[in-house]
Amino acid sequence: MSINIRPLHPVLGGEVDGVDLRQPLSVEQVAAIEAGMDKYAVLVFHGQDITDEQQQAFSRNFGSLERPDSVSNITRDEDRRLGPDMADISNLDRNNRLFGGNDRQRLFNLGNMLWHSDSSFRAVPAKYSLLSGRIVPETGGNTEFAGMRAAYDALDDAMKATVEDLVCQHSLLYSRGSLGFDELSEQEKAGFRPARQRLVRTHPVTGRKSLYLSAHAGAILGWPTPEARILLRDLNEDATRRDFVYSHKWRQFDLVMWDNRQVMHRARRYNDTTDVRDMRRTTIAGESQTVEQAA
Ligand code: OGA
Ligand code: MN
Repeated sequence: MSINIRPLHPVLGGEVDGVDLRQPLSVEQVAAIEAGMDKYAVLVFHGQDITDEQQQAFSRNFGSLERPDSVSNITRDEDRRLGPDMADISNLDRNNRLFGGNDRQRLFNLGNMLWHSDSSFRAVPAKYSLLSGRIVPETGGNTEFAGMRAAYDALDDAMKATVEDLVCQHSLLYSRGSLGFDELSEQEKAGFRPARQRLVRTHPVTGRKSLYLSAHAGAILGWPTPEARILLRDLNEDATRRDFVYSHKWRQFDLVMWDNRQVMHRARRYNDTTDVRDMRRTTIAGESQTVEQAA
């Protein structure tokens, strides 16, 4: 069966049929999915009841896996529920019990409800993320995606010139700080040291420019902080207008894959202290620093 992709939204997103992610893929199938990612930036695969190992094997078709670590989370090794290559996006502790309302890990995880791009706080940020919905709540908990190519294209010429060569500092200290989550140990703070990212990036395959925004961005090199924050807020507001956003309502065993170089995403609220949402992410490492990229 050949891969078929149906557009889901005018600016991004495609729904893929004709592939079983439990099986090894052919070179042609991998190429068709990569081409779909370049075109749609977000791909949805329904009905994929996969194990963590199958998710990892499928993910490795697209590059090497980025491991969650002390640069990306506050989870201690002994508290991890999943293996070292899986990012735990659930509301469950290592015993598969729901986090309590004041659990520190729960409060940290709420940061996923801010618009962001995965691991923009790493010097070499992520390429793709692949999120598998093993148990999904009946109400709430959509994942939304905003198209950053469309956001760039919509800027007027003066703003394109302003942002062209700007470099931002990204850190979990900024995204979590914006929610008032700032009780971090010295060791955690050291892991969350800011990384530099260009504000405008060019896609290596399509050559299209996109705005590289994220809740982790909290400073612009050479700019006073309030001026930087106001510009970033304005850009975020315009970039996430409703007509640039696809909202994904999860069905059990959906796998959604996105290109962090071309979209921002966020989780929406749900009853996370009563309803299980078991989501597991594999992340494909990027290939280079954005600051190495020519303007
Ligand atoms: C992620 C993420 C959003 C969600 O997996 O990186 O931000 O809806 N997920 O769980
Ligand atoms: Mn994320």
